[in-house]
Amino acid sequence: MTTETPKHITVIGAGAMGSQIAMVCALAGYDTDVVDIAQDAVDRAETQLHERMDRDVAKQRRTAEDVAAAFERLTFTTDRDGCAAQADVVIEAAVEDLGIKRKLFAELDRICPEHTILVTNSSNIVSSRVADATGRPEKVCNFHFFNPALVMQCVEVVPHVGTSRKTVDTALELARSLGKQPVELKKEVPGFVANRLLGALRTEALKLYEDGVADFEDIDIAAKTALRHPMGPFELMDLVGIDVVHLIRLAEYEQTGDPASLPARSIREKYEAGEYGRKTGKGWYDYS
Ligand code: 3HC
Repeated sequence: MTTETPKHITVIGAGAMGSQIAMVCALAGYDTDVVDIAQDAVDRAETQLHERMDRDVAKQRRTAEDVAAAFERLTFTTDRDGCAAQADVVIEAAVEDLGIKRKLFAELDRICPEHTILVTNSSNIVSSRVADATGRPEKVCNFHFFNPALVMQCVEVVPHVGTSRKTVDTALELARSLGKQPVELKKEVPGFVANRLLGALRTEALKLYEDGVADFEDIDIAAKTALRHPMGPFELMDLVGIDVVHLIRLAEYEQTGDPASLPARSIREKYEAGEYGRKTGKGWYDYS
């Protein structure tokens, strides 16, 4: 088996992103594992994906046969090392913590076959910050999906200076084979492309709200009815997670040192109150 024709994909992290990324891979025909350290996270991912797929079948978006075949190819497990030893590609979608990611990449480097490509779904942590924890930096890059990964078409492929052309081409081809539209970046930049665009909109929306210009609901209405965005910026923060938004800003501040990068006041308040959005039942909107 070569890196050009991956067959077996291991996804590390069974959260909202990791579990849906794994489902996308299995639906596209790859033998896929979704791995987490916690059994309850793996169980939750399995339950949620079954519910999601049942809905898709009921709405005739997919056939029951395709879904059943995908679940046959999808393994939910805590056996990271056993999976990684078989993987042609590992997609890391674990917690956004540089120390944890570096340790993980070093361990994956020891366990995975020589040809295995190691990619990270992170948009906060560029791959040059983990590649040097491995002995294969040329086979490491970012491979960034969007939430909800089952639906959103874009995958950003972001090489660091040491990523080989062959790895970039394999990653682009992998994204296409998953039914996604890859966007290739020529160099690492905090936030990549889409989150940079989104960040500009979000910053402006938060400023309008905090300056008392309009209620957040009305700002969302303007984005949807004047600009035809599928969701307003506040609804989107609730979908992505206010904890994630908070973390993205802190990660940017760490890199820029510019106080303008810090989380907006209202984001900090919601973060400190544990109001993370849909995942906690309350964020900008109430989901209880
Ligand atoms: N997971 C999986 N599938 C989902 C979903 C979710 N959380 N939410 C919606 N869907 C799918 C379902 O199939 C759903 O149909 P169903 O509810 O009948 O089963 C279908 O999409 C349509 O959903 P809705 O009818 O509820 O609403 P929409 O037509 O508006 O679609 C949406 C929902 C696809 C989420 C759409 O509103 C949208 O595109 N929103 C913008 C999302 C976005 O911008 N994402 C990028 C975030 S940034 C990011 O991820 C980067 C990271 O680094 C932080």
